[in-house]
Amino acid sequence: MNKKIKYIFYITVIATFMTCDKIKKNTVESPTKTEEIEKKVDSLLKLMTIEEKVGQMNQYNGFWDVTGPVPDDGDAEMKYEHLKQGLVGSMLSVRGAKAVRAVQKIVVEDSRLGIPLIIGFDVIHGYKTLSPIPLAEAASWDLEAIERSAQVAAAEASAAGINWTFAPMVDISRDPRWGRVMEGAGEDPFLGSKIAVARVKGFQGNDLSDVNTIAACAKHFAAYGFSEAGKEYNTVDVGNSTLHNMVLPPFKAAVDIGVKTLMNGFNELDGVPVTGSSYLLRDILKDKWGFKGFVVSDWASIRELVVWGYAKDNRDAAKIASIAGSDMDMESHIYVTELVQLVRDGVVKEAVIDDAVSRILTVKFELGLFDDPYKYCDESREKEVIGSPKHMEAVLDVAKKSIVLLKNEEQLLPLKKEGQKIALIGALANENNSPLGSWRIASKDSTAVSILTGMQAYKGNTLVYKKGTDVTVGNAEFVNEISVNTNDKSEFDQAINAAKEADVVVLVLGEHGFQSGEGRSRTDLGLPGLQQELLEEVYKVNKKIVLVLNNGRPLTISWADKHIPAIVEAWQLGTQTGHAVAQVLYGDYNPSGKLPMTFPRNVGQIPIYYNYKNTGRPVLDKNNPNLVFWSHYSDIENTPLYPFGYGLSYTTFEYAKLTLDKRVYAINEEVNITVDVSNTGKLAGKEVVQLYIRDLVGSVTRPVKELKGFELVTLEVGETKTVEFTLNKESLGFYNNKGEFLLELGDFEIFVGGSSYTKLTSSFELK
Ligand code: BGC
Repeated sequence: MNKKIKYIFYITVIATFMTCDKIKKNTVESPTKTEEIEKKVDSLLKLMTIEEKVGQMNQYNGFWDVTGPVPDDGDAEMKYEHLKQGLVGSMLSVRGAKAVRAVQKIVVEDSRLGIPLIIGFDVIHGYKTLSPIPLAEAASWDLEAIERSAQVAAAEASAAGINWTFAPMVDISRDPRWGRVMEGAGEDPFLGSKIAVARVKGFQGNDLSDVNTIAACAKHFAAYGFSEAGKEYNTVDVGNSTLHNMVLPPFKAAVDIGVKTLMNGFNELDGVPVTGSSYLLRDILKDKWGFKGFVVSDWASIRELVVWGYAKDNRDAAKIASIAGSDMDMESHIYVTELVQLVRDGVVKEAVIDDAVSRILTVKFELGLFDDPYKYCDESREKEVIGSPKHMEAVLDVAKKSIVLLKNEEQLLPLKKEGQKIALIGALANENNSPLGSWRIASKDSTAVSILTGMQAYKGNTLVYKKGTDVTVGNAEFVNEISVNTNDKSEFDQAINAAKEADVVVLVLGEHGFQSGEGRSRTDLGLPGLQQELLEEVYKVNKKIVLVLNNGRPLTISWADKHIPAIVEAWQLGTQTGHAVAQVLYGDYNPSGKLPMTFPRNVGQIPIYYNYKNTGRPVLDKNNPNLVFWSHYSDIENTPLYPFGYGLSYTTFEYAKLTLDKRVYAINEEVNITVDVSNTGKLAGKEVVQLYIRDLVGSVTRPVKELKGFELVTLEVGETKTVEFTLNKESLGFYNNKGEFLLELGDFEIFVGGSSYTKLTSSFELK
């Protein structure tokens, strides 16, 4: 049969099927959209050869300028041929309406069945118009702003031909040495789950077939954030309690809200690389949680099963990963070479393949790709949507909300708008590239508003800018620590002289955007290069310093905390960075962010997190002459520099009247809590009111605090609002070591306040 005729044949089968459906609708009960899609998938599956089925499980990276001639170098030529033969189900990193149309056209017109590709891309914190890095956004605790930010990302990406993002990364991590903490929501499973839901909703909307929405992907399943010693791609060895209570909840939340795909990770868990873990992928994800979408491997992670020493060769790796439940092979190129034979040899059951392919086809149907494979390829929409003023406004809004005020003595902040002489110092202050972070594939380099530009918009002050020192040397994108450190102090003097002359010094220090992210683990979390030295030199001549941090992870800034009166955590805030920072520094936005991750005093304290366990020896027993044998370090206190949930405002808040509706509750009852929060300062402001619990006795030991609720409250000067929280079975229970959810009777403490350090407490009993 000629290819075109075969394609028409397939369309006819689908159309016939759809007509039958219509007839049925009038006579019998109308099928749901899901049932309709199930039937379409089944009938399409029946038309497919085993090669075509395996083809759907194969994903290739973008390879040549698809709008130009086909190159004749091996890899690209092979991929092109595979597209024509229907041996590719998805492409990643092809972008732009024109380019996507070109690859889509190859499969639709040349392959036998013309099954459209699903086009994936790392739309991590925006496509072209960038929001803050995800860790920064998490500091906003503002679920609406985060959802909106994902909507913007989806609108731009979908206008550029993309219909699937490899986001959100929902990996919980307690180790800021791990460079990828910038891509997640921090250390807490409750906050992480809420943010996972907000992001999935933002990307997918209510209707996946809407042209502005794209499929989301919760990654990396699972426990990648617990890489030993924060070293990228390292072994992970967490116990069951941590796995079920810390690692899995955000994935479960994403699945429950309907995330369409999951990605597995590069890590192993308890001796099994997660790409080949049927415990995670089949037992937990697909069976227990009932996940109906598909799982994509991480980049070449199926092939890496061989490198791990878990599979003996590529054939073995393809067998293990497919049986385990990795449905799509990202760039390992081994499903496409091995799976057909594995099925023919009876090693992998065709049912395994059918299951994977059904899942993939279902998402394609839901996206509407079978109705119109080119629906995301409208160049005029692409021009109109990307970088629109509406999007710029949305990313500026979330950028402001992501800033965390860490310290503000002598009310150095906000800066006065007139009559001050300000010295702005630091290479990062004049950066329009670093604020874009390291995940900005589609964004043009150097398109962020720098802090210098943002501050220049305020014209009432005299502003002098000096670099002082570089953060990195060489090409920042491929920087490694060894090449980072510069010895060049030649511009120190200019900076110091400017500081001498100034009323206030704003020093912008931290990491370049490319110093965090994948493959960018670090062991020294101080200010890179000569920045610490610059800070100390400037401090010698002018103590009125506002330190603005730019970074993708918690840093160890103990010296600064001790000496510098004002510290602002400004992360990497994306396209609108400079405006967001300037508006906060000048008080046009009163900072309201709270840390989603603990800041350690030094690297030796890592991993350090607020929801730790009590241990058998939590505190020094003052009556005991033996002062050594308790859980502590002998050279530094146990507390972090800044705890989880911490962040100041230009105003002050007070908490009072923490009230529970009862003292004793039956197991099915809800616990209703109220607290009064007042603005006791001189400016209107917003507070993130946080609720923590402690379950005093458990059949598995419980953390000393667990976040179980939060509310954002805006208060005028002198205003008081009553904030309400409800605790239910879900918030009071926990997972035992078998992954079973338990609710145990007994005593609970609650804590309410503006950080995990809050001391305002009450208690109740579950009887
Ligand atoms: C990362 C993933 C990413 C993929 C595709 C991998 O290196 O771990 O998170 O989605 O590449 O770019």
